[in-house]
Order: sequence, then C-alpha cells, then structure tokens
Amino acid sequence: MSFDRRVDLSNGLEHVPVLIERSSTVMTFPEFQYSPDNIQGPGCSTDPSEVTLPGCSCRSPSCCTEDCSCLQTHGRGYDINGTLLNLNQTDSGYCSPVFECNALCTCSDACSNRVVQVGVRLRLEVCSTENRGWGVRTLEAIPHGTFVCEYAGEVIGLEEARRRQLSQRAEENNYIIAVREHAGTGSVTETFVDPAAVGNVGRFLNHSCQPNLFMQPVRVHSVVPRLALFAGRNIDAQEELTFDYTGGYSNQLPVELLSTQRDADIQASRTHGLQRKECHCGANNCAQFLPLDLSIINRE
Ligand SMILES: C[S@@+](CC[C@H](N)C(=O)[O-])C[C@H]1O[C@@H](n2cnc3c(N)ncnc32)[C@H](O)[C@@H]1O
Ligand SMILES: [Zn+2]
Ligand SMILES: [Zn+2]
Ligand SMILES: [Zn+2]
Repeated sequence: MSFDRRVDLSNGLEHVPVLIERSSTVMTFPEFQYSPDNIQGPGCSTDPSEVTLPGCSCRSPSCCTEDCSCLQTHGRGYDINGTLLNLNQTDSGYCSPVFECNALCTCSDACSNRVVQVGVRLRLEVCSTENRGWGVRTLEAIPHGTFVCEYAGEVIGLEEARRRQLSQRAEENNYIIAVREHAGTGSVTETFVDPAAVGNVGRFLNHSCQPNLFMQPVRVHSVVPRLALFAGRNIDAQEELTFDYTGGYSNQLPVELLSTQRDADIQASRTHGLQRKECHCGANNCAQFLPLDLSIINRE
C-alpha cells in the first residue's frame, strides 16, 4: 500500500481529512475500523451513543451561567472561545469531568459549551516515527487549551480490559487507556477505552514523559465520558502530538520518587510475567519505561 497525502484515514467521517504521511518506509499500516465516537464494547453496560443526560432550556445562541441549568449544575468548562478553563492539571492520576450542552439542550449549535462534540477541526497527520511506530503530528499551530481530538474506541469493562491486556504479546502495541475520575462522594469512576480494533486518530498518539497534550474526560450526551485531548501549551506546526498515558501532565514527581515507582513497577510486572516496554520519548525526565496500568491486572 502506498500512502498519499490525499488519503483521508477517517473516510469522510471527520469534518477535516485525517492525513497519512507520504512515506518511504516499509512500516505496514494497521487495519482497524475508523470511528470518530466511542462504541459499546464487552463489559460496558451503557451504550455511549444513547442520550442519557438532561438538557437546558436556554433560548440564547450561547448559554450564560446566570440562567443555564447545564452551567449551573456542572460549572463552566470553557471560555467563550471554547478554550478549556481548568488548565492546571494535577499529577494525581484523577481528574474532574467537564459537561457540555447536549442533544436535549435548546441552545444553538454555536453555544460555547459545545466543543468536543464538534469533533476534529485541526489538520492532523499520521506519520511514521523513528522508534515508536506510527505517531500523529499537527500541520498547524495549536494554542494552549485548544481541543485537539478524542481518544475514541471500544468502551470496555475492567474484566475485559484485564483479559485483553494479559493476552497481549510483549511486542504488540497496547492501546487500552484507563481513566479515573472523582465522583464527588469520595468514590471513583473508571473508564477503559480500547481503540485497537475500532478507533479514531487518537489511537496513533504516542506517549511522552513530557507531553504537549493532556487528557480531560468530557461528558456530552451520555454518562460515559469522552477522553478528550487538549493542548497543554502552545504547539507549533509539524510538532508530534503526545500525551502521558498515566493521565498526568507535567511529570513533576521528585526524581527519587520516580525511581522508586519505576522499581516497584518493574517488580510488579515481573510478578505477572509482563515485559515493560522501553520509553523512547526522548524527554530529559523520561521514566525509561512506558506506563503499564497494573491496577487493571492486579484487581480482584
Ligand atoms: C496507542 S499506541 C500509539 C500508536 C503506535 N505507535 C502505532 O504505531 O500504532 C501505543 C503503542 O505505541 C508504542 N509507543 C507509544 N509511545 C511510545 C514511546 N514513548 N516509546 C516507545 N514506544 C511507544 C508502544 O508500542 C505502545 O504500546
Ligand atoms: Zn444552556
Ligand atoms: Zn445545555
Ligand atoms: Zn519517556
């Protein structure tokens, strides 16, 4: 198969074509079904395409905090330009959700509380990397806080995530991302997304210990969150886009803590006969190994 800039990986399913780099390498292109949205997979009791959240009854083109039930209940996630407001990501691995206006809301499609649901607007290109397989780069500059794309795929349950992770061979790519959110009452909600067989352009994003994107769970029509990726700083055209697979952003753990964590991870992965993959992100704070969410495997 030869790759051409005119090829749209999404087959017209995104608003803008997702390009594939014209490449002279012999790297094979993976087969998968393109889906811009999450789909229901084994162990996920809710269909992510069902509208299950209530809407507001605003008549203005764009919702205002004073009289919008969505914004009053969940707070404002974006400024009037659709830029994410909470840009201070923590390294705790937990995050609070953002809620957008949805299919039941009476505001217009231009409401500033509709961002992730609009889909990919930037010109992105899937490109080959030297030592990390395929990756994604941006063909245009991206300002800090801008929505880039979702990490969309099959939403699966913990048991299925565990089964899939344990049946993977060491040399295979791992695509399962686990996201944990505080549910307010001290409980934690977990979501597992696997875009290996069905997914969007997000499935090609590589990990970096010093990433330029961060993941923010966003709810639109459904209680099932969308794993949205936003620019963590101003990004130049042609830069490769990466995020931290652990969900952290700035990786500011003290060096001693990082190495203790690394040793614990290596020990735990040996126990399970799993081989950790070396991280080739090239950052000066690189943790040397790709994150492996052992909580998926360890849990009873
Ligand atoms: C979500 S996929 C990313 C796309 C993948 N590179 C591809 O060719 O399809 C995750 C896999 O990419 C590779 N990968 C991602 N980030 C990496 C890194 N920093 N160093 C080495 N390999 C990486 C690993 O094989 C990992 O399991
Ligand atoms: Zn409203
Ligand atoms: Zn609304
Ligand atoms: Zn690294």
